Amino acid sequence: MNRVPVTITVNGQPFTASVEPRQHLADFLRETVGLTGTHLGCEQGVCGACTVEIDGRPQRSCIAFAVACDGSTVRTVEGFDDDPTMSELREAFSTHHGLQCGFCTPGMLITSRDIVRRCGETDERTIREELSGNLCRCTGYMGIVAAVGSVCRGKTPEVEAPPVATPVPAAATAPIRLPEPAMAAGAPVRPSMAPAPAPSVAATPLASAAGDSAGWTAIDQTITVAAAPATVWDALGDVRGVAACLPGAEVEKLEGESLTGRMSVRFGPIKARFAGEGTVRRDESAHTGRVTGAGRDSGSGSQAAGEVVYRVVEGERPDSATVVVTIRYRLTGTLAQFSRGALVQDFVRRMAETFASNLSASLAPRADGAPPQAAKPVEMNVLAMLVSVLAGRIKRLFTSA
Ligand code: FES
Ligand code: FES
Repeated sequence: MNRVPVTITVNGQPFTASVEPRQHLADFLRETVGLTGTHLGCEQGVCGACTVEIDGRPQRSCIAFAVACDGSTVRTVEGFDDDPTMSELREAFSTHHGLQCGFCTPGMLITSRDIVRRCGETDERTIREELSGNLCRCTGYMGIVAAVGSVCRGKTPEVEAPPVATPVPAAATAPIRLPEPAMAAGAPVRPSMAPAPAPSVAATPLASAAGDSAGWTAIDQTITVAAAPATVWDALGDVRGVAACLPGAEVEKLEGESLTGRMSVRFGPIKARFAGEGTVRRDESAHTGRVTGAGRDSGSGSQAAGEVVYRVVEGERPDSATVVVTIRYRLTGTLAQFSRGALVQDFVRRMAETFASNLSASLAPRADGAPPQAAKPVEMNVLAMLVSVLAGRIKRLFTSA
């Protein structure tokens, strides 16, 4: 099998090696770099034992390919000796008996440090939900939760995550700026389970798209449709039809501005079915719409919040329209660590592209001259999308070499 040269900075020191495309980061760290503090439990992204920091975010190193980390900065449990928060956590784990055999401890410590930095002082329920992606086979959770709680006490949240690059929409159209959902009321963003308040669309400033802040990830899409803006705007009023363009989404009930619905996602061993509520707001004068929602997956206990904001403007060609769409989402609970991985962000971006392409197809004028119609529900083929994301990444590596 072809080997691929990669350079990954681990704990401040660059390491260059030739790896097989299928080698995951955990094996690279343990076998190539020789850092065995990163443990492997399930090797399928479930237990969290292999958690390391990749470009400042906790991620599963067993489901991150080494080739996908080329050029990244990785910090393993051995790389926090000069970190004051990690020192506090180590002390607290010892004081509160937060470890028994210690197998889960490296992953627990890295996740816990992320919790302290993102949440600051918070309640036990939040700590348990945030830690739910890390399993302890000795089941010593009480000590672990107590240790994290003691370090969180008196702390304020830090916004530590670097922004996620978002594609720049076409220059002809100003992208939509989304207000920080929980910051709109002046409150710090916390990983609380409450849905983000939905500010009125009319009051929303429109400027460049925001990146990631406190766990929110934003993805922009620009769709050009061969139909007049007014026709496209009317078609977008069909909420069920628009939802049908998003793989896995389903609107169950729609009353005025309120809706209830479901969103089904399957990612590797993880299956989630979020049920929740949302609102739909449309500003006729600005041709701007916003759909917000929040839901819970009863299986994993994970929470999701998201919003789709769109604006319809004149297209570059006569009788064409451009729809500028921004999708933002945030996950908390077991699935949260998956959502922070670059691979998953690629995957969500691919979902956004699928949404844009389905929407574009559903808005295209019909041959018989009838107005655009709502899309038929689309099935989500996550595996195919994931394979395609991976193939794209590996291809990029080879073409840039
Ligand atoms: Fe990576 Fe279990 S070994 S999540
Ligand atoms: Fe043994 Fe957690 S302390 S697995």
